[in-house]
Amino acid sequence: MPKTLGLIGAGNIGSALARLAVAAGLDVVLSNSRGPETLAALLAELGPQARAATMSGAADAGDLVVATIPFGAYEQLPAAALAGKTVVDTMNYYPERDDRITELDTGEQTSSTLVQRHLADSRVVKAFNNIDFVRLFSSARPTGAADRSALPVAGDDKAAKAQVVQLLDALGYDTVDIGTLADSWRSEPGTLVYVQPYLPKRPEGLTDEETGRWFFEVPGVPVSVGQARELTDNAVRRSAGDARATLA
Ligand SMILES: NC(=O)c1ccc[n+]([C@@H]2O[C@H](COP(=O)([O-])OP(=O)(O)OC[C@H]3O[C@@H](n4cnc5c(N)ncnc54)[C@H](OP(=O)(O)O)[C@@H]3O)[C@@H](O)[C@H]2O)c1
Repeated sequence: MPKTLGLIGAGNIGSALARLAVAAGLDVVLSNSRGPETLAALLAELGPQARAATMSGAADAGDLVVATIPFGAYEQLPAAALAGKTVVDTMNYYPERDDRITELDTGEQTSSTLVQRHLADSRVVKAFNNIDFVRLFSSARPTGAADRSALPVAGDDKAAKAQVVQLLDALGYDTVDIGTLADSWRSEPGTLVYVQPYLPKRPEGLTDEETGRWFFEVPGVPVSVGQARELTDNAVRRSAGDARATLA
């Protein structure tokens, strides 16, 4: 088990993971793009187990480091400071936010194989990318709880993947191993296991304000290991032809 979790990114997902990690007894070192001084309010909430640093500082401090920034900025992850580390990649490629990347649109790469290419001396493991940040926090359960959910993990390095499985267990989740980083498309946006299974069906006819309240307040739906396995096994990848049609 890591003693200290480094976080590069302290937004929706980074702060949910920091809360879960502190609750699990870990120390956390948080960083963002604007600098440590902008994280004072979150640190005050998290208490003495949390501190803030630069991105490289969080990378140096973490026994295990989570990269949780907009995917479009992945090349700004500090590769030298992350060398030799296991890096958990929560990031998803959204072309409308991240600009189009042909290698992803053609299915030649996954977003995580690109992250691994940038972090050539790190061991990248994809996790936490397929659950929304509200449920990430609220659906966490202790080991063995009947309503515990499972999340997919993917990675090329078995030992690193085992470390991340242990982290998920400590933070409140079972896991389903979906293979290598090349296989991680099975949990990418648009696949069966992405976000929706962890949420109840949204009632129809809500106003925007009611939809917002519903999103923040509704309890999650537990997704068992068997269900997550079935959803990821049955994932369908968009073909290169489809991708070219989208690009056209
Ligand atoms: N939101 C979800 O429910 C969800 C679920 C699963 C996966 N994800 C994925 O997880 C990642 C993080 O999502 P999020 O919702 O937590 O995003 P977010 O709330 O927008 O937070 C992004 C964080 O990354 C930092 N950041 C932005 N650009 C950066 C850069 N160039 N270098 C270093 N840090 C930078 C931001 O720092 P500043 O605030 O200082 O700019 C902020 O702390 C994304 O790739 C997203 O697709 C999100």
